[in-house]
Amino acid sequence: MRVKDHYDSFLGSVYSWILGDFDTAYRKYVDLFATLKLAPHGDEIAVDLGCGPGCQSVPLAELGYDVLAIDFCQALLDELADHSGTLRIKPICDDIRNFPEHIENSVDLIVCMGDTLVHLPDREAVRSVVEAVCDSLKPGGVFVYAIRDYVGHAPTGAARFIPVRANDEQIFTCFLDYRDDVVHVHDVLYRKQEGEWKMSVSDYLKLRLDSTVIDRQLTEQGLDISCKTEADGMITVMATKTL
Ligand SMILES: C[S@@+](CC[C@H](N)C(=O)[O-])C[C@H]1O[C@@H](n2cnc3c(N)ncnc32)[C@H](O)[C@@H]1O
Repeated sequence: MRVKDHYDSFLGSVYSWILGDFDTAYRKYVDLFATLKLAPHGDEIAVDLGCGPGCQSVPLAELGYDVLAIDFCQALLDELADHSGTLRIKPICDDIRNFPEHIENSVDLIVCMGDTLVHLPDREAVRSVVEAVCDSLKPGGVFVYAIRDYVGHAPTGAARFIPVRANDEQIFTCFLDYRDDVVHVHDVLYRKQEGEWKMSVSDYLKLRLDSTVIDRQLTEQGLDISCKTEADGMITVMATKTL
């Protein structure tokens, strides 16, 4: 299934629930952005690519950025609106590949977090989004991306079944089928309806992206990798435009 269809028809309605809850995810990014010392000096613009319900957009707006929050799943943008209050967050429903069309001048910060880059259809699309990111930043501007490590090792057997979240009403499990270049993800949702468990399954592909390839491109395009960490299988990279 196409990634957009997967989010529109299946994952979008339960995404925040599987995150745990919005506040926990939001607090994680408040802490991360403090560690990365992200703070606007005056009026600065941040672009959040694949913003989802706003776990990054909201803390960035609270820091003082004017945030352009881009996602192609309207249900998640509606949730973002619920979390935005009076914060300066502009939601845009579009493909992140079109993000340059939504900015007038170069910007101060671009984030693409929570494993969003791997959702792009192929490596050429990743390359062209990263190229547009580099072109769209001001000198001194910062790019932060975070992707899950699907390259370091490929789980086999029972390790491919990930219990994501469960309560008395719903159970969400993920089955990961590793191929050479992609992971075929099957999301399995059981919902209790009138006392009976009903199962629904939806699938899509994630790219097995090598972060060193992305970092090399960033460096070639004039950015310095200022910080790279890996925690709980998630690789986070911060790069600063020097030119
Ligand atoms: C794994 S979620 C991450 C959401 C959020 N950044 C977070 O960390 O919770 C990926 C998000 O990217 C969006 N997305 C994936 N591919 C996209 C694309 N090509 N254009 C726009 N949004 C996209 C999905 O709708 C989803 O909200």
